[in-house]
Amino acid sequence: MSAGLIPEGFDFTDPDVYAQRVPLAEFAELRRTAPVWWNAQRRGSAGYDDEGFWVVSRHADVKAVSLNHEVYSTWENTAIIRHSEGITRDQIDIQRIIMINTDPPQHSGLRRIVSRGFTPRALSSLKDALAERAERIVHAALEDGTGDFVADVACELPLQAIAELIGVPQEDRKKIFDWSNQMIAADDPEIEIDQMTASAELLGYAMALSEERKGCPKDDIVTKLVQADLDGRGLNSDEFGFFVLLLAVAGNETTRNAITHGMMAMLDNPEQWELYKAERPATAADEIVRWATPVVSFQRTAKVDTELNGQAIKAGDRVGIFYSSANYDESVFEAPERFDITRDPNPHLGFGGGGAHFCLGANLARMEIDLMFNAIAEHMPDITRAGAERRLRIGWINGIKEFPVNYGGTR
Ligand code: HEM
Repeated sequence: MSAGLIPEGFDFTDPDVYAQRVPLAEFAELRRTAPVWWNAQRRGSAGYDDEGFWVVSRHADVKAVSLNHEVYSTWENTAIIRHSEGITRDQIDIQRIIMINTDPPQHSGLRRIVSRGFTPRALSSLKDALAERAERIVHAALEDGTGDFVADVACELPLQAIAELIGVPQEDRKKIFDWSNQMIAADDPEIEIDQMTASAELLGYAMALSEERKGCPKDDIVTKLVQADLDGRGLNSDEFGFFVLLLAVAGNETTRNAITHGMMAMLDNPEQWELYKAERPATAADEIVRWATPVVSFQRTAKVDTELNGQAIKAGDRVGIFYSSANYDESVFEAPERFDITRDPNPHLGFGGGGAHFCLGANLARMEIDLMFNAIAEHMPDITRAGAERRLRIGWINGIKEFPVNYGGTR
C-alpha cells in the first residue's frame, strides 16, 4: 500500500524526527490510506537481518497484534524497534532474557511470579509512602521558585516507587537512581552515558540483593519473588536481576514522561487545569497517558505467514505497533486532538493493546500520576511555563528532557 503524503525515505523510528515532534499528521495519513505500511530500512541496520518493518497505525489492528501471541513474538527480535546502528545482533540476543522479550509459555511462568509484587494489596501498601514522597518532591521544588520540572518533579516519584516496590534500602537508592538514569535515553548524544556499565552494575546489585534475601528472608517483595510459593518456584537470582533491569527501564522514563506531558497539557489548556484543581477527576490519569503515549511503539515478529487488515505478512516480518497512532484514532476517540481529563470511556492503548505483555505497572503508574498531580494542585496551583521544553532524541519514546517552569510560590 502506498501513503501519498509520507515523504520518500520517512522512517517512523527515526530519532531525529522524535527530537522535534511525534509525527501525528503522518500517522493520521497512514490510518486513512495505508493502515499497514511498509517502513523501509537499510538491510542490517540495528542488527536486523531485513529491510524494514510494517507500521500498524489503527487502534483495532494494534490490539489484534497485541492479543495474538500465537502469531506475533517478542522473542524473535525483542520488543523495542531499534533505529540506532550502534546495536548489534549479539546485544539484541542478550536482551531476550528479559520478560518482555519472551513468549508464552516461558513468559507466562515468569509473569505469574512477578505479578506477586503488583497485587492490589502490594500497591495499596505503597500508597502512603508514595503520597508523602510526592508532597516532599513538590515542597522541595517550591523552595527553588523556578526550575526544570523534569528533574525537580517528574523523575523523582517513579524512581522512588520502584525502589519502594522492590525494597531497596534507603542508603542504596542514589546508586539505583544513577544507574537507571544512565540506562535510559541512550540515543541522545547530549546525555553522557555508559549504558552497558550501568546495566551491569544494576544487574549485579539486584542479583546480590536476591541472594541476600534467600539467605535471610524479610517481609518484602524481593523475598516474595525469590522464594518458592505453593504453585512452584521463585525467581533465581539471574531472573530477579533482569526483572529489576526491566522495571528500571519500563517504569521510569514512561511515568516521568506521562507526568511531564500531563503538566504541559494542563498549562496549555488552562480550563482543564482549573477543572482538575476543582474536581480532581479520576479519569485524568488515563487521559494523561493517552495524550502523552510515552511509549510510541513496540514491535513483534510474525512466526508464521499471516494477514493483517488485508495485508499479507510473511513469517519473519517485523510488525511495529504504534500506540501513538492508535491513541489518536478518530474512529475510536471523539476529537482525539482535544486534551479532555473527563474523557470516559477512554480505551487508550498507552499501556499496550491487551494480551500477554500488557503493562504490569499500569495501576502503579496511574497511582503515581494521581498522587503527583494531587500534590501539585494542592501546593503549586499557580505553576506556569518559563520557557520551551526540550525533547529527547530517541526513536520509540515521546520524551521530554527539560521543561522550565515557575513554581509560583508557596501555599
Ligand atoms: C505511564 C507509564 C507507563 C507506560 C505508558 C507503560 C507502557 C507500557 C507498554 C506499552 C508496555 C508493553 C505492552 C505490550 O507489549 O503489550 C509495558 C510493559 C511493561 N511495563 Fe509498563 N508502562 C508504564 C509504567 C510502568 C511502571 C510504573 C512499571 C513498573 C514499575 C511498568 C512495568 C512494565 C513491565 C514489567 C512490562 C512488561 C510486561 C510483560 O512483558 O509481561 N510499567 N508498559
